[in-house]
Amino acid sequence: MPILVTGATGTVGGCVVRRLLAAGHAVRALTRNPSAARLPAGVEVVAGDFADPASLVPALRGVERVHLVAMDGDGPAIVDVLVEAGVRRLTHLGHDDPSRPDDDPLESWHRVLRKAIESSVPEWTHLFPGEFMANTREWAPSIRAEGVVRAPFGDWRSTLVHEDDIAAIAVEALLTDDHVGRTYQPTGPEPVGRRDAVRMIGEAIGRELRFDELTPEQAREQWQDVYPPEIVEWFLEMGRYPEGNSWVSPDVEEALGRPGLTFDRWARDHVADFT
Ligand SMILES: NC(=O)c1ccc[n+]([C@@H]2O[C@H](COP(=O)([O-])OP(=O)(O)OC[C@H]3O[C@@H](n4cnc5c(N)ncnc54)[C@H](OP(=O)(O)O)[C@@H]3O)[C@@H](O)[C@H]2O)c1
Repeated sequence: MPILVTGATGTVGGCVVRRLLAAGHAVRALTRNPSAARLPAGVEVVAGDFADPASLVPALRGVERVHLVAMDGDGPAIVDVLVEAGVRRLTHLGHDDPSRPDDDPLESWHRVLRKAIESSVPEWTHLFPGEFMANTREWAPSIRAEGVVRAPFGDWRSTLVHEDDIAAIAVEALLTDDHVGRTYQPTGPEPVGRRDAVRMIGEAIGRELRFDELTPEQAREQWQDVYPPEIVEWFLEMGRYPEGNSWVSPDVEEALGRPGLTFDRWARDHVADFT
């Protein structure tokens, strides 16, 4: 019986696919565009789009376990389609910040999906990670072209998490009964400053990199063509918390029995992205 991985062409989903294959499982991957998907040999690739929940039905044939990346569409309608198709176990990669109210524009969609999963799916595990180390790949074009990163808040620190730690928890939760009904908030093992992250990428690729600190206004200008306005303002909110986002979650260690992977390890894993 295949395990369906959604977001299989993405950051965490790609690691989930590789880990399931390595563990000897049949993997079916969902993508909106099968002809563009670069997935490992042996993966069955099936088209489907969260924006049209009925389009997920072919990918769900004979599937009881799903890794769901929360991206788009009508959350409760997607959950209904999954459950009607016979899905029993779901790992849900998404986002939830309990300090924000239900009607917060950045929270409400995710919270509605979370509640639908909890009320309908027999066996669920939520994964609400901290900021991904992989987000630093947005620096890749200027690193490759000029050896420079232009970003705000150089000293701001965040417990960035390696995508493969998130994937490892998802795979444990798909394959064993030990994580049913759990909510994990995986973070990295230590806070990493923006400027330090740039230095570690430079060390990994063997090139000295420069960090040019932008003012929030300059950052807003740089991001306005890349991200929706509410996301840009959310990023800029960081500056209001000079102590950074330094909380180290115990969840990677608790779920996997080992500490989370560090940023310098991530940089070494991703040399090809920056060269
Ligand atoms: N990035 C972070 O720092 C961070 C932190 C905490 C939580 N999260 C959460 O982690 C999740 C992944 O985020 P990400 O930005 O890193 O994603 P990502 O890895 O870039 O992946 C996006 C994936 O979603 C699939 N996808 C997008 N829209 C889809 C649709 N309409 N129908 C079917 N598949 C669709 C894409 O597949 P195709 O293009 O192949 O169709 C792609 O594989 C999100 O729920 C996010 O809220 C992210």
